[in-house]
Amino acid sequence: MGWKVLMFRDANKLRGLARTAALLACLSLCYCGAERRRAEDPRDVEGMSVTASVSEADLFDVLPDPLRTTTQTGFTPTSDRDERPMLKEHQYRSLAALLREVYSQPPTTWPAPHIDPDAEFTELGPVPGKGVFPEDNPYSAAKAELGRMLFFDGRLSGPQQMACASCHVADLGWADGRARSLGHGTVQLERNTPSLLNSGYSPTLFWDGRAKSLEALTAEVLQNTDEMHATPDEIVERLLRLKGYREAFAKAFGDEEITFERIIQAIATHVRTVVSEPSSDFDRFLAGKRDALSDEAVRGLHLFRTDARCVNCHNGPLLTDGRFHNLGLTYYGRKYEDLGRYRVTKDPQDVGRFKTPALRNVARTAPYMHVGFFDLEGVINIYNAGGAEPRMREEFANDPLYPKKSHHLVPLHLNEQDKRDLLAFLHSLTERRRRDLAPDLPKE
Ligand code: HEC
Ligand code: HEC
Repeated sequence: MGWKVLMFRDANKLRGLARTAALLACLSLCYCGAERRRAEDPRDVEGMSVTASVSEADLFDVLPDPLRTTTQTGFTPTSDRDERPMLKEHQYRSLAALLREVYSQPPTTWPAPHIDPDAEFTELGPVPGKGVFPEDNPYSAAKAELGRMLFFDGRLSGPQQMACASCHVADLGWADGRARSLGHGTVQLERNTPSLLNSGYSPTLFWDGRAKSLEALTAEVLQNTDEMHATPDEIVERLLRLKGYREAFAKAFGDEEITFERIIQAIATHVRTVVSEPSSDFDRFLAGKRDALSDEAVRGLHLFRTDARCVNCHNGPLLTDGRFHNLGLTYYGRKYEDLGRYRVTKDPQDVGRFKTPALRNVARTAPYMHVGFFDLEGVINIYNAGGAEPRMREEFANDPLYPKKSHHLVPLHLNEQDKRDLLAFLHSLTERRRRDLAPDLPKE
């Protein structure tokens, strides 16, 4: 596997970027053997010497065509365990300065991402904003507020002890910090609790995408015997007895009638308001604050889009393609077996595929993956190895359901610097902490 030499998607877009060009030219001189010049903005490279020994593939990747030496690929691994060479401190800082310059420009001019031909790619970008609401359940402040009350109200569960907010906690990134939560009757749930943040934008919900709307999801969770274990009738009956709720439903829906349909509509409306705010370092950087990202995070962003290949699946403003992929975590034929998307579609191709999670605020929602077994370092190690690949047992040799790992995953050869930088980028997606304490719930 050689390093791909990449083109700017549209080299013309670069023309206006005089400062970038100056910096790139400065860096390129060491490859061309010509005399070294100073960049126009001395802060960018002052005091840094870029020596002829620089062999970082990234440098080639971001150099525009005329400046690139295509014969040098920097590093050719001989085994899956080989690591890319570490950069020396001065090389590292020069590269980071270059990348900061390049990534400070609008995303349309960023270096081309490393993606496979069949990947569905949308560029990364600022968070979308206010949330989206379907025509058959439009937003109103009164409905969202009612939904927030219901979200916190344990009386919606059969035994009146468990609320949505028991497992989706604002301070914990709208997840619950556990590998797997305990459901009704303290049964261990099968999958890790995902964050609710931005789930209103997601066309399919749950790890396997079995719910097509937040309304359908809410109806399922309320009645699921391992979760809230309630029946529509008992919930409606309980709420009807409470004057505070009758009034809140009147405000939200125009009259005091309380139905299961209205209950799930209100909860879904509240969940759709739980969206990212542009408070993360990454968003501040995108908004023009050049210093909002550390050198490590800027380089991590570049790795995420290029050599680490993350954007094959995590792309767009929320860092998800909304599709389903197999990372090798099916645990096929073993205790934690989970066939994922296959359970919904019954298509053998879908065995072990799970929805690509959005990564906004991801550092707040450990532990990770549908099994909830990994920390962020562990996740990066899985990708570095080219996904998880348990040895196939002989009994499965001709099994048509035997899970196939995504072809987007290949060994990455990342070194410690690279992994640290990817981690820094993931942390730059962390938003301002939000507390969402329970509202006063109707007592009568
Ligand atoms: C006992 C813990 C628990 C409770 C209570 C709970 N959830 Fe969840 N929630 C989970 C788990 C676990 C999943 C993932 C299940 C799966 O994918 O199969 C999940 C998934 C979700 C998702 C999907 C997110 C996505 O991006 O796919 C949403 C939305 C959600 N829950 C909303 C709610 C709402 C609304 C309520 C209250 C009606 C609720 N949850 C109650 C544990 C819980
Ligand atoms: C082939 C598509 C694909 C690629 C490439 C990919 N991811 Fe993922 N990512 C997924 C899927 C699917 C999951 C959930 C898998 C599961 O739970 O079994 C996931 C999960 C994660 C999680 C855990 C999120 C959570 O809430 O549990 C993180 C963090 C993550 N990926 C980061 C990365 C980084 C960093 C890279 C690049 C090094 C990357 N991903 C490359 C598809 C991909």
